[in-house]
Amino acid sequence: MVALKVQPAGGAYGAPISASDSTKSAMIRIAGLEKRFKTRSGETVNALTNVNLDIHENEFISVVGPSGCGKTTLLRILAGLESRSSGAIQCDGAEITGPRPDVGVVFQQATLLPWNTVLANVLLPAHLRNDKSEATVKRAEGLLAFMGLKDFAQKYPFELSGGMQQRVAICRALMREPRILLMDEPFGALDAMTREAMNMELMRVWSEERKTVIFITHSIPEAVLLGDRVVVMSPRPGRISEIIDVDVGRPRSLQTMATPRFGELCDHIRTIFGAQSVTATSL
Ligand SMILES: Nc1ncnc2c1ncn2[C@@H]1O[C@H](COP(=O)(O)OP(=O)(O)O)[C@@H](O)[C@H]1O
Ligand SMILES: [Mg+2]
Repeated sequence: MVALKVQPAGGAYGAPISASDSTKSAMIRIAGLEKRFKTRSGETVNALTNVNLDIHENEFISVVGPSGCGKTTLLRILAGLESRSSGAIQCDGAEITGPRPDVGVVFQQATLLPWNTVLANVLLPAHLRNDKSEATVKRAEGLLAFMGLKDFAQKYPFELSGGMQQRVAICRALMREPRILLMDEPFGALDAMTREAMNMELMRVWSEERKTVIFITHSIPEAVLLGDRVVVMSPRPGRISEIIDVDVGRPRSLQTMATPRFGELCDHIRTIFGAQSVTATSL
């Protein structure tokens, strides 16, 4: 049996978190979070139940769970785009009540405006604030260069591959220099090779721009490769089953995925899903 540093799902408001975390105070604190939806037919859907999680500054948190377990709902609540039914959700000690300027969001679809150039798409958040300064254009161009898209600034989204479009969406999310980056299955629609390349890009962005990242995925290897910790969610009603410390050193590369420890951590998560009867089709 493999020794794993597993944190029971209690977090600061339940069972103790790991020793390395207990010395730092949380940047984002989720406590007793519940979300219920009323469907149009009048039924109540329990999307999230008693979610407790402390997230530290500059941490990379992966969230993995089966379809419909409330991952997007959790991210939308964190982004201030969705209300909660009960519980507390705080950033720097203040309740999250709406979208914040220091939070960037990347969704599964790049959601670029087809009639705008790549550069204009990246500049959109600035233009919405009426910021048309030279410095802002320079930042957008710098981000595009950083993401290997320097020569594509004047192209239109349809002229780009799916991976490139998603890189543009990441540039757009980084425009306001967010401290927190929320990503909802951002590479889910990409082919396997592009996805691996994007994982490497994201690790580079994270190591150079040092952000707090909450990254939702249904890929177990992707969650382990990227995360400092992996939050494993259970099927509906969405709860945290386990929080796993990824005790694999950085920098990580695709070769990391061939190491025994990486395999053990992935197997452990698969075992959790196996115990919950999560089939491959529901991941
Ligand atoms: N606006 C909504 N109205 C009613 N039910 C919703 C709404 N949004 C999500 N749900 C339900 O909440 C559950 C969790 O959804 P979601 O957060 O999208 O899951 P995931 O992202 O893990 O696939 C699902 O059962 C979904 O049908
Ligand atoms: Mg989702």
